[in-house]
Amino acid sequence: MTATPEPDFHEVCEGDDLWVGEMRLCSVAGVKVLLLRTDDGEVRALQSICPHQEHPLDNGEFDGTTLTCAAHLWEFDASSGHGVNPDDAELARYPVKVSDGNVLVSVKGIKPKYSHA
Ligand code: FES
Repeated sequence: MTATPEPDFHEVCEGDDLWVGEMRLCSVAGVKVLLLRTDDGEVRALQSICPHQEHPLDNGEFDGTTLTCAAHLWEFDASSGHGVNPDDAELARYPVKVSDGNVLVSVKGIKPKYSHA
């Protein structure tokens, strides 16, 4: 078993720039990350491509709770990254922290997940 490396946080935006129910594509250390603010007010960072057939998820729909891929309508819980439909899919989640009003994300050691079909 390998240990998860210490996060390496990079500033991506001001927290006030992302409202509840909004999502935005960001680049963190050369990795595209989908930043979302869920209904509970928390900022989440998820892999930006669908694990099904790698469609960009920022083209999908986000209602504050569920992220839906535009290509074949796979659904994901935006808080956990777990698949809602199908429930065996999953999105990689990246650590997020807010400091002095700024959102920071680490992508170190985390790879996107795939479930090609
Ligand atoms: S590529 Fe996203 S559901 Fe098929």
